[in-house]
Amino acid sequence: MQMPRKEIIDLRSDTVTLPTEEMLDAIRHAKLGDDVYGEDPTVKKLEEMAAEKMGKEAALLVTSGTQANLVSLMNNAKRGDLVFLEAESHIYWYEGGGISSIAGLLPWLIKGDFGAINPEDIEAAIRPKNIHFPEPSLICIENTHNRYGGTIVTPSQMRAISEVAKKHGLKFYMDGARIFNAAVALRIDVKEFTRHVDNLMFCLSKSLSCPVGSVVVGGQQFIDRARKTRKVLGGGMRQAGIIAAAGIVALEKMIDRLEEDHRNAKQLAEGIAKITGVKVDLEAVQTNMVRFDISNLGVPDELFVLKLKENNVLVSTMAKNSLRMVTHRGIEKVHIEKAIIAMESIVKELQSKKQA
Ligand SMILES: Cc1ncc(COP(=O)(O)O)c(C=O)c1O
Repeated sequence: MQMPRKEIIDLRSDTVTLPTEEMLDAIRHAKLGDDVYGEDPTVKKLEEMAAEKMGKEAALLVTSGTQANLVSLMNNAKRGDLVFLEAESHIYWYEGGGISSIAGLLPWLIKGDFGAINPEDIEAAIRPKNIHFPEPSLICIENTHNRYGGTIVTPSQMRAISEVAKKHGLKFYMDGARIFNAAVALRIDVKEFTRHVDNLMFCLSKSLSCPVGSVVVGGQQFIDRARKTRKVLGGGMRQAGIIAAAGIVALEKMIDRLEEDHRNAKQLAEGIAKITGVKVDLEAVQTNMVRFDISNLGVPDELFVLKLKENNVLVSTMAKNSLRMVTHRGIEKVHIEKAIIAMESIVKELQSKKQA
């Protein structure tokens, strides 16, 4: 007799989402051409839709969020310039240092509050022109903020940052990998965020369920330059309509459902917050991520992650004693309940071993 396969509840990231049947159909039937020659109609359509949705002139499909950030950094600042970044930003932590090794920029870190940089801290960090100082040219924010657990930088916080940028002649860029999560959570149009920045990127391959791709959005001249940079970085793709086709479905069909991921994240957070020894800051659970602290359990992170895995629940480690769960399409209420039960029983087992 064959044993039923155990269902894995993969809460490591929303990047694990698989394309929908509709996306696969759209890929199969996409009209294609050579996009390096500017001849792929499906890519053109996606880029036009993205620009329109974001309220900007133009857009560019790129291979990944990392490439989107790199291309954008390289076209918002020149080598040797100083870039203001939130201290926990993805660009600084997880993009292989490309900001320095490829873009040739100096990251200047400013600690934010739930991921939002205080405009006064930027103002204070801007020094007068001086032969000794690198020239600042760009402010980057991340929205939602990954390492803070999917927190939102609100439109009014963004407006205040944009005023500092304007006052000092700096460009303002948003790593909006999950900006639709922010818009859905606050029930506002995404343009309420994007109107404050010169340019931005968002990801198709995270909670929107596409297999590949991110989009850089901004003014026409910026996008024209970005297209050239993307080519230089090896990101000129030929029949890229097979990627864009899924992206079009994502923009049409996958945004509103993010609300379900947010509801599930709340339920997950509230459930694990009740477990003795596990700490969750419920105020930080604003979209589809739940960060939790296990320092009071007194067990190594690896052991706890392994125990969860043995119970078919996958999570990520973000820092010592700090783990993360991310909800996404494919994770339903029943999985949330199972994950909470698994965690409760692991903690009980660990605590009874400690007492023995
Ligand atoms: C906020 C943020 N920016 C950029 C990226 C990079 O995206 P990619 O993994 O597609 O390179 C990620 C990836 O998780 C992210 O969370």
